[in-house]
Amino acid sequence: MSTATRGGMDMQLCIAEAMDVVRARADARQLAALIGFSPADQTRLATAVSELSRNILQYAGKGHCEMSDISTDTTLGIRIVFEDNGPGIADISLAIQDGYSTGGGLGAGLPGTRRLMDQFSIESRPGLTRVTIALVRRRA
Ligand SMILES: Nc1ncnc2c1ncn2[C@@H]1O[C@H](COP(=O)(O)OP(=O)(O)OP(=O)(O)O)[C@@H](O)[C@H]1O
Ligand SMILES: [Mg+2]
Repeated sequence: MSTATRGGMDMQLCIAEAMDVVRARADARQLAALIGFSPADQTRLATAVSELSRNILQYAGKGHCEMSDISTDTTLGIRIVFEDNGPGIADISLAIQDGYSTGGGLGAGLPGTRRLMDQFSIESRPGLTRVTIALVRRRA
Protein backbone atom coordinates (compact mmCIF):
# COMPACT_ATOMS: atom_id res chain seq x y z
CA MET A 1 0.00 0.00 0.00
CA SER A 2 2.54 2.60 1.02
CA THR A 3 4.79 1.32 -1.74
CA ALA A 4 2.20 1.76 -4.47
CA THR A 5 3.96 4.69 -6.11
CA ARG A 6 7.54 3.51 -5.69
CA GLY A 7 9.85 3.81 -8.64
CA GLY A 8 7.61 5.90 -10.81
CA MET A 9 5.54 9.00 -10.59
CA ASP A 10 7.18 11.91 -12.32
CA MET A 11 5.23 15.07 -12.87
CA GLN A 12 6.21 18.17 -14.79
CA LEU A 13 4.43 21.46 -14.41
CA CYS A 14 4.77 24.80 -16.15
CA ILE A 15 4.84 27.86 -13.94
CA ALA A 16 3.81 30.93 -15.89
CA GLU A 17 0.91 32.53 -14.02
CA ALA A 18 -0.54 32.82 -10.54
CA MET A 19 -2.90 29.87 -11.02
CA ASP A 20 0.10 27.65 -11.74
CA VAL A 21 1.44 28.34 -8.25
CA VAL A 22 -1.85 27.22 -6.76
CA ARG A 23 -1.85 24.09 -8.92
CA ALA A 24 1.78 23.21 -8.18
CA ARG A 25 1.12 23.60 -4.48
CA ALA A 26 -1.91 21.32 -4.63
CA ASP A 27 -0.16 18.74 -6.82
CA ALA A 28 2.83 18.59 -4.48
CA ARG A 29 0.55 17.97 -1.54
CA GLN A 30 -1.31 15.28 -3.43
CA LEU A 31 1.81 13.47 -4.60
CA ALA A 32 3.27 13.65 -1.08
CA ALA A 33 0.06 12.15 0.32
CA LEU A 34 0.11 9.40 -2.30
CA ILE A 35 3.70 8.51 -1.45
CA GLY A 36 2.72 8.28 2.21
CA PHE A 37 4.06 11.46 3.80
CA SER A 38 2.38 12.73 6.96
CA PRO A 39 -0.01 15.69 6.77
CA ALA A 40 2.70 17.86 8.39
CA ASP A 41 5.20 16.89 5.69
CA GLN A 42 2.58 17.45 2.99
CA THR A 43 2.19 20.97 4.32
CA ARG A 44 5.97 21.53 4.42
CA LEU A 45 6.20 20.52 0.79
CA ALA A 46 3.22 22.57 -0.27
CA THR A 47 4.72 25.63 1.40
CA ALA A 48 8.12 25.10 -0.21
CA VAL A 49 6.56 24.61 -3.65
CA SER A 50 4.49 27.72 -3.23
CA GLU A 51 7.54 29.85 -2.32
CA LEU A 52 9.80 28.54 -5.08
CA SER A 53 7.05 28.80 -7.71
CA ARG A 54 6.33 32.36 -6.64
CA ASN A 55 10.00 33.20 -7.01
CA ILE A 56 9.98 31.85 -10.57
CA LEU A 57 7.01 34.03 -11.46
CA GLN A 58 8.38 37.10 -9.74
CA TYR A 59 12.02 36.96 -10.81
CA ALA A 60 12.03 34.98 -14.05
CA GLY A 61 8.48 35.38 -15.36
CA LYS A 62 8.11 31.70 -16.12
CA GLY A 63 9.71 28.31 -15.63
CA HIS A 64 8.80 24.80 -14.64
CA CYS A 65 9.13 22.22 -11.96
CA GLU A 66 9.45 18.46 -11.93
CA MET A 67 8.30 16.36 -9.00
CA SER A 68 9.65 12.84 -8.54
CA ASP A 69 8.96 9.99 -6.21
CA ILE A 70 12.41 8.93 -4.99
CA SER A 71 11.17 6.41 -2.42
CA THR A 72 13.11 3.24 -1.75
CA ASP A 73 12.40 0.01 0.16
CA THR A 74 13.26 1.74 3.41
CA THR A 75 12.47 5.41 2.79
CA LEU A 76 9.74 7.68 1.53
CA GLY A 77 11.16 10.39 -0.69
CA ILE A 78 10.09 13.21 -2.92
CA ARG A 79 12.34 15.48 -4.93
CA ILE A 80 11.26 18.63 -6.73
CA VAL A 81 13.46 20.52 -9.19
CA PHE A 82 12.53 24.09 -10.13
CA GLU A 83 14.08 25.62 -13.23
CA ASP A 84 13.86 28.95 -14.95
CA ASN A 85 15.74 30.80 -17.66
CA GLY A 86 15.62 34.18 -16.00
CA PRO A 87 18.43 36.54 -14.95
CA GLY A 88 19.75 34.26 -12.21
CA ILE A 89 20.61 34.90 -8.58
CA ALA A 90 23.66 37.14 -8.38
CA ASP A 91 24.74 36.14 -4.87
CA ILE A 92 23.30 32.85 -3.64
CA SER A 93 24.75 33.08 -0.12
CA LEU A 94 23.04 36.46 0.27
CA ALA A 95 19.78 35.22 -1.25
CA ILE A 96 19.43 32.44 1.33
CA GLN A 97 19.77 34.86 4.25
CA ASP A 98 16.67 35.87 6.18
CA GLY A 99 15.45 39.28 5.17
CA TYR A 100 17.35 39.65 1.90
CA SER A 101 15.09 40.65 -0.97
CA THR A 102 15.60 42.47 -4.23
CA GLY A 103 11.87 42.43 -4.86
CA GLY A 104 10.54 44.33 -1.87
CA GLY A 105 9.46 41.09 -0.19
CA LEU A 106 10.20 39.74 3.27
CA GLY A 107 13.16 37.75 1.99
CA ALA A 108 11.74 34.71 3.74
CA GLY A 109 11.07 32.38 0.81
CA LEU A 110 14.46 30.77 0.23
CA PRO A 111 15.69 30.61 3.85
CA GLY A 112 12.30 29.38 5.04
CA THR A 113 12.19 26.71 2.37
CA ARG A 114 15.71 25.63 3.19
CA ARG A 115 14.76 25.07 6.84
CA LEU A 116 11.66 23.06 5.91
CA MET A 117 13.46 20.63 3.61
CA ASP A 118 15.98 17.81 4.16
CA GLN A 119 17.82 18.69 1.00
CA PHE A 120 18.07 22.11 -0.59
CA SER A 121 20.45 23.26 -3.28
CA ILE A 122 20.67 26.17 -5.69
CA GLU A 123 22.62 26.46 -8.91
CA SER A 124 22.29 29.75 -10.71
CA ARG A 125 23.81 31.73 -13.54
CA PRO A 126 22.28 34.18 -15.98
CA GLY A 127 19.85 32.16 -18.07
CA LEU A 128 19.54 29.15 -15.78
CA THR A 129 18.46 28.90 -12.18
CA ARG A 130 17.80 25.49 -10.67
CA VAL A 131 16.57 24.98 -7.12
CA THR A 132 16.33 21.38 -5.93
CA ILE A 133 14.53 20.31 -2.77
CA ALA A 134 13.84 16.93 -1.26
CA LEU A 135 12.13 15.41 1.72
CA VAL A 136 13.11 11.91 2.85
CA ARG A 137 11.60 9.89 5.71
CA ARG A 138 12.21 6.42 7.03
CA ARG A 139 9.29 4.12 6.34
CA ALA A 140 7.15 3.39 9.38
N1 LIG B 1 14.26 32.22 -9.51
C1 LIG B 1 14.95 33.32 -9.16
N2 LIG B 1 15.61 34.03 -10.11
C2 LIG B 1 16.32 35.13 -9.76
N3 LIG B 1 16.44 35.60 -8.51
C3 LIG B 1 15.79 34.93 -7.53
C4 LIG B 1 15.02 33.76 -7.80
N4 LIG B 1 14.53 33.31 -6.62
C5 LIG B 1 14.97 34.15 -5.68
N5 LIG B 1 15.74 35.13 -6.21
C6 LIG B 1 16.46 36.21 -5.49
O1 LIG B 1 16.62 35.79 -4.14
C7 LIG B 1 16.02 36.76 -3.27
C8 LIG B 1 15.48 36.08 -2.05
O2 LIG B 1 14.35 35.25 -2.39
P1 LIG B 1 13.27 34.93 -1.28
O3 LIG B 1 12.22 34.07 -1.87
O4 LIG B 1 13.99 34.42 -0.08
O5 LIG B 1 12.67 36.35 -0.89
P2 LIG B 1 11.70 37.30 -1.72
O6 LIG B 1 11.11 36.55 -2.86
O7 LIG B 1 12.46 38.54 -2.04
O8 LIG B 1 10.59 37.65 -0.63
P3 LIG B 1 9.46 36.63 -0.07
O9 LIG B 1 9.67 35.31 -0.70
O10 LIG B 1 9.67 36.60 1.41
O11 LIG B 1 8.18 37.27 -0.49
C9 LIG B 1 15.00 37.46 -4.12
O12 LIG B 1 14.67 38.77 -3.64
C10 LIG B 1 15.71 37.51 -5.48
O13 LIG B 1 16.67 38.55 -5.49
MG1 LIG C 1 10.26 34.67 -2.56
